[in-house]
Amino acid sequence: MKIFITGGMGYIGSHTCVELLNSGYEVMIYDNLSNSNVKVLERIKVITGKEPVFIQGDIRDEELMATSMDGCSAVIHFAGLKAVGESSQIPIEYYDNNINGTLCLLRAMKKNSIYNLVFSSSATVYGDPLYLPLDENHPLSATNPYGRTKLFIEEILRDVYTSDKNWHIALLRYFNPIGAHSSGLIGESPNGIPNNLLPYISQVAVGKRESLSVWGDDYDTVDGTGVRDYIHVVDLAMGHLKALENIASLGCEAINLGTGNGYSVLEVLRAFEKTCNKNIPYKIESRRVGDISSCHANAKKAKELLEWSATKNINDMCSDGWNWQSKNPNGYE
Ligand code: NAD
Ligand code: UFG
Repeated sequence: MKIFITGGMGYIGSHTCVELLNSGYEVMIYDNLSNSNVKVLERIKVITGKEPVFIQGDIRDEELMATSMDGCSAVIHFAGLKAVGESSQIPIEYYDNNINGTLCLLRAMKKNSIYNLVFSSSATVYGDPLYLPLDENHPLSATNPYGRTKLFIEEILRDVYTSDKNWHIALLRYFNPIGAHSSGLIGESPNGIPNNLLPYISQVAVGKRESLSVWGDDYDTVDGTGVRDYIHVVDLAMGHLKALENIASLGCEAINLGTGNGYSVLEVLRAFEKTCNKNIPYKIESRRVGDISSCHANAKKAKELLEWSATKNINDMCSDGWNWQSKNPNGYE
């Protein structure tokens, strides 16, 4: 079975390609390399012993996509811009890339009579939680253009399904993916200064940055710092395999992919320090605009519909993340 993977060269996409290849799927990666490196292909080959097919292209190039996906039976759609702060500075690019790109993808799929789609959504669609843990029925909202692209795409996909019940669509709402493949050959390689917690901590640990800024210690949490549901990227990748295996039994379903556990910034910092056996200097700073206090998943629906649940704990996430960072201090560069 051949799967068309938009954004397959990126952080989550590359890990998912590895698991797909290891499970006997063929993969066709489609990526414009705007936030990834072509070296990923070689690394995937070393890990799996198999060579994925790669086409360099943009998801807004409908014609190229339509011809490239010939013979595929399903699409996993990772491609998109994802930096929350940047999305407020260049919203037109975000709406064009993420929403227009998804419309092009849907038309290309229809041309090829491909109706199975797994979409990368995000826990960001829940906005500021009204209650915890977050289940899939929690009201949806967004506070920035990036989050709105995810929310709007979810709405578009629900409309597409309502118009034609041949579609099978999994809206996978990721919580906070971290960690890396245990080989240390693929991992997260952010451009410039990392926005996210784990890449920042890793870069302090490896000596590339001086100290971590902890954005706020006055939240109503265990130690005042923000709490998130961190999930190992390989667990997340396995969630996509399970979604594909079960896609025929789904209509258009939103499904959380999280562990159900929350950890504070300082708890993650301590776990990482233990793993790398170093002190990570940090400074408490004021809250980051737009941040929520706490967030963790109710992960029951994934278990019921996909027979999937996360298997790796915070120590696994930190040690695999550190293994990747220490072997590749400059990412893929
Ligand atoms: P990533 O940036 O590492 O991967 C995205 C890939 O898409 C990159 O390889 C990039 O080159 C490619 N791409 C971007 N725009 C494209 C376009 N127009 N045409 C073709 N390729 C394009 O990001 P990731 O962390 O792997 O995230 C994958 C998906 O998951 C994204 O849609 C993201 O919004 C979503 N998501 C990520 C997180 C997270 O914390 N990493 C959380 C929730 C949801
Ligand atoms: N944090 C710091 N210092 C940093 C970076 C982060 O203290 O340098 C804190 C944040 O304040 C927050 C926690 O670490 O409390 C996690 O922050 P991240 O930036 O790593 O993750 P977010 O939860 O803010 O957002 C991420 C992705 C979004 C996605 C969301 C899904 O960036 O795209 O997870 O839950 F939508």
